[in-house]
Amino acid sequence: MTQPNPAGLEDVVAGTSEICFIDGKEGRLLYRGYDVRDLAEHATFEEVVYLLWHGRLPNRAELDAFVQQLRSQQALPGQVLELIRHIPPATHPMAALRTAVSFLGTLDPEQDDQSREANLRRATRLVAQFPTLVAAIERVRQGKEPVAPRRDLSLAANFLYMLRGEEPSPLHAEVMNVALVLHADHELNASTFAARVVAATLSDMYSAITAALGALKGPLHGGANEQVMRTLLEIGSPERAEAWVKQALAQRRRIMGFGHRVYKTEDPRATILRRLSRKVAEAAGELRWFEISQAVERAVAAEKGLHPNVDFYSASTYYVMGIPFELYTPIFAVSRISGWTAHVLEQYANNRLIRPRAEYTGPTHRPWVPLERR
Ligand code: CMC
Repeated sequence: MTQPNPAGLEDVVAGTSEICFIDGKEGRLLYRGYDVRDLAEHATFEEVVYLLWHGRLPNRAELDAFVQQLRSQQALPGQVLELIRHIPPATHPMAALRTAVSFLGTLDPEQDDQSREANLRRATRLVAQFPTLVAAIERVRQGKEPVAPRRDLSLAANFLYMLRGEEPSPLHAEVMNVALVLHADHELNASTFAARVVAATLSDMYSAITAALGALKGPLHGGANEQVMRTLLEIGSPERAEAWVKQALAQRRRIMGFGHRVYKTEDPRATILRRLSRKVAEAAGELRWFEISQAVERAVAAEKGLHPNVDFYSASTYYVMGIPFELYTPIFAVSRISGWTAHVLEQYANNRLIRPRAEYTGPTHRPWVPLERR
């Protein structure tokens, strides 16, 4: 093996895909050729899911039919609600979600059918059920009864409704829709790669998604948004941000929500989320978290030249919307399930086992030493 071995597979092209394109130098992100900035402005999350799976935007009839399909699949099987009630209350919602999704796989009504049609039906069930799952996990964690999904709300609005037990304001529904659009896919990020590795063994979609959830949970990936909010809470006021950042960097700590493997300029999703964060803050008359975020951004830029990523301004946005920070990564999953399933479908459609090599750096030719002489 003579190829270079970059740590963390940096810049390694590990496959082809028609789903998502990132231009890390220009700060552009495309889903199936559409700029995410246009999608964030004009599309519903449901349209984006259709786009990711089918490679084109739906027409009116196709979208209506798809939305109806999603709405008919939102409810959770009783056994899943039962399982959620048995999860220890201190469990992180991401661990609960991972467990519940794995369990959902055992209830799959068509386990033996691995056709594309069956996998599309599975993907539809997953996208429809993720908001219900996350909301139910949170309600039970708070000692409340889960709220049944409604069939007359968008996926974004319904998620907030099930979380709070009351219909969200049009602004909150709109902001959640944009957040879901922005998180839907991101090429071969760690969780999507994990999902594709599992799918490439021809294992089932639930196994692939369970693996993806495990990868998303980590703080270097989706888990960063929760850590961002913990940071903002610890800093507490804009005046304290600069000193906090300087001290954290002096201790060689990572500032959560900054830096990216692919973007060398501003992440286009961060640009939109910064605007959303300000918008919800102004509407709520609560600018503190946005202002601390801006102060942290200025300090990190001055000290390290790093840009915020998607996780940075989503934290202050969700916080002002009254969402507990343990749910920020599960919300990422409510969106990214669309991209994961798109990639799993693409993997199945043109599969080859993913099995790279490692460059061995351990000892060789060690003589056997009997137990009594070690
Ligand atoms: N805080 C402080 N320093 C950083 C950070 C950060 N957030 N990110 C990168 N650096 C520094 C790093 O210390 C190194 O500096 P030096 O050369 O002086 O040692 C340099 O930048 C390159 O870092 P790297 O670790 O080689 O970069 P990477 O491509 O391996 O890591 C990353 C990418 C996202 C894991 C990293 O930037 C990071 O840890 N960020 C914080 C966690 C985070 O926000 N994750 C979310 C990622 S984006 C969306 C998602 O997946 O959820």
